[in-house]
Amino acid sequence: MRTVTVGLLGCGTVGQDVLNLIERRSGIFADLGVKIEVAGVLVRDAEKARRIPAGIPLTTDPNFLQECGVVIEAMGGIERPLALLRPSLRSGRAVITANKALLAECWEELRDYALDGKLYYEASVMAGTPVIGPMSTVLRASTFTRLQAVLNGTCLYILTQMEGGKSYEAALAEAQALGYAEDPPTLDVGGFDTAHKLTVLARFCADGNFKYSSVEVQGIEGVTLADVQAARARGERIKLVAELDRVNGEWRGRVSPQSLPDTHPLCNAGASRNAMVYEGEECGTLIFAGGGAGGMVTASAMVGDLLDWVIGFPGHVPLH
Ligand code: NDP
Ligand code: HSE
Repeated sequence: MRTVTVGLLGCGTVGQDVLNLIERRSGIFADLGVKIEVAGVLVRDAEKARRIPAGIPLTTDPNFLQECGVVIEAMGGIERPLALLRPSLRSGRAVITANKALLAECWEELRDYALDGKLYYEASVMAGTPVIGPMSTVLRASTFTRLQAVLNGTCLYILTQMEGGKSYEAALAEAQALGYAEDPPTLDVGGFDTAHKLTVLARFCADGNFKYSSVEVQGIEGVTLADVQAARARGERIKLVAELDRVNGEWRGRVSPQSLPDTHPLCNAGASRNAMVYEGEECGTLIFAGGGAGGMVTASAMVGDLLDWVIGFPGHVPLH
């Protein structure tokens, strides 16, 4: 049996379930001849109570990263995780991350590692609903034309709750309590998290160097209860929609609240499901839908990435 030494950054909503799922899947790793050993889990407060398997070493000292064959990042932020991951990446080791802000905003530094197949990031967009996998592999054979998507679980939750009459503030507080929201939640409600995710997707289907700064962003802060309920009365729903299409020969990324008919695939995917309508010349119209936020659904993609790495599959390679 080969021992694989894993380091984890962060043990919050996502990190805890990564640890729980690694333990739950130990049989699959054993079938592959691998024993996963968690060398350390970096946190801010090592004394805080966590829902994790016994014996996991929590620490505020990142030194354990030196001995890890693969690092899983579930910490959030940009500068701090980048500084912590840099030595692993520079020494050719693999990194698994759910951090779309880092991917979207630090692409100049990360792109070569992604091109080398060292970066695994299925969880960064639509959490456990696999869209990056197909977009980085089989969908390449088809000419991409356009996509439209609901990519933020927090905004989806808030707008759905407002349909039932709840205030924006109360719905946001609930989304935070459920562990869906970013820190700070302005990233969600301001549309920036959706723009980060759209940027990550665009690099698989439009331009391998697609820039986050080129996305036009409008959030849901200005959407009122009256707007949401007037849409319902028309047989429509307000969603925060990400769009990528070509205008005058240039790729255009946009995030904005839109009122869509109930019959639209982004509405009838289900009240709590992220969704993406992907259009390609040869593949036709594809619809992906599923959970897009939450601990275990995100962990499912990250532990899936770890399995891919153990098997020897490369990470998610963007367009060259
Ligand atoms: P949480 O806030 O729940 O957890 C963050 C964890 O990171 C905590 O354990 C915290 O430690 C630790 N941490 C934060 N900053 C530092 C630091 N400077 N030094 C050491 N430890 C630190 O976040 P989530 O689990 O919700 O999200 C983590 C990442 O996953 C983010 O990038 C997010 O965008 C992404 N993601 C989240 C999803 C979700 O549904 N929540 C879904 C998909 C992606 P401590 O506990 O001690 O405070
Ligand atoms: N804050 C994010 C959301 C987490 O609400 O969708 C999942 O990426």
